[in-house]
Amino acid sequence: MNNKPPKIAALVVAAGSGTRFGAASMPKQYQPLLGKPLLRWSLDTLASHHEIDSVHVVIHPDHQDLFTTATAGAQTLAPILGGASRQESVRLGLDALAAQETPPDFVLIHDAARPCLSAALISAITSCLQSGDAAVLPGIPVTDTIKRLQNNGQVSTEDRNNLYTVQTPQGFDFNLIHALHLQYAAESLTDDAALVEKSGGAIRMVQGDPQNIKVTYADSLSNAAQILAVARQDIRTGKGYDVHRLVPPRHDLDRLIIGGITLPHDKVLDGHSDADVALHAITDALLGTVCNGDIGMHFSPKDERWKGADSAAFLRHAAQLICAQDGLITHVDLTLICEAPKIGPHRDAMRARIADILCLPTDRISVKATTTEGLGFAGRGEGIAAEAVVTVRLPFKTDILEHEQSATARRTG
Ligand code: CTP
Ligand code: MG
Repeated sequence: MNNKPPKIAALVVAAGSGTRFGAASMPKQYQPLLGKPLLRWSLDTLASHHEIDSVHVVIHPDHQDLFTTATAGAQTLAPILGGASRQESVRLGLDALAAQETPPDFVLIHDAARPCLSAALISAITSCLQSGDAAVLPGIPVTDTIKRLQNNGQVSTEDRNNLYTVQTPQGFDFNLIHALHLQYAAESLTDDAALVEKSGGAIRMVQGDPQNIKVTYADSLSNAAQILAVARQDIRTGKGYDVHRLVPPRHDLDRLIIGGITLPHDKVLDGHSDADVALHAITDALLGTVCNGDIGMHFSPKDERWKGADSAAFLRHAAQLICAQDGLITHVDLTLICEAPKIGPHRDAMRARIADILCLPTDRISVKATTTEGLGFAGRGEGIAAEAVVTVRLPFKTDILEHEQSATARRTG
């Protein structure tokens, strides 16, 4: 018995001229999209998918230089030259795969014009192929009412029940789809599943992905950019830690301030500013998310301006640095480590104050406290420690693409 996993190839057709897109500068599949050529998005997604063994691209004979530039740095196979119609380009691609020493068992045929392809959709298709389906088609049920405009100007309503819009990639048994493309080469069909329909073969429909849009007209390029950017938001975690000594009331400060509020206690925290250990830990955590040093770098303990300062100003400053990068703080998790005072009764006031400083809803601020069972400096009541973990959402930045690229190369190489 042959236990070898089936060989799955991806065939990306990119030999069109993008007439409806209408850019004079370059065809749509080579247009820059969020830091890389449109074509590269689906190529990279397919190449990094663990079930896809090889990715083959069909290009227009006039686009060879564009293709070389677009795939610089990628481990891409030599392109296959396409034909006058999409159908012909697919057939030429399948011919080239059939001519390989070991042709694939399955093929996923994808339009380069759909850059927002997800790994999840690829998996949905490959899993059907591996369970025995010979043709797999991603479809989305039509929800809009569909009208037909007749030549005479009359409008009529179509029954939208059982109507789907379909996408690529479409997955097939390789020998089946290759034979059908040879058989129906003279017909003009707009997708590959249509050939299976013509032959009376069965087709499995899987749930399509609404984000897997096709770039047809120029305005859909910005929609694609938005979809890709949202999916690649830069979620960052920052961690901060601080300790201050507990001392008798200071000459410049006679209150214990933690988390921006005053707590009744016979000791205060010692430090250059108001020594709010909690706000300092959160400030450092926020600075960590944007790799912008630490609190001491921004507010030197030697600087007279910060003597006795309200630490809310430090926290606000860190939040502004994140804002300046169009970032959004989404969560703060603070842990106070002390024997006394008891934090529990003040937890909600502290959460509300921190939320107020950061302009966040209170339910995105967590305040926890723990003792150390009498152990260490906190256990002996000599000081208070605070630890903070924050989550920040930054917008997509193209610098990560290079990293994604080398990660892909490591996985596939
Ligand atoms: N395609 C192809 N060979 C052709 C025509 C189209 O490989 N002769 C590819 C396109 O590059 C695209 C996919 O088929 O990835 C779907 O085609 P479409 O979106 O219609 O792209 P174009 O044909 O380039 O655009 P237009 O129809 O507006 O000219
Ligand atoms: Mg076309």
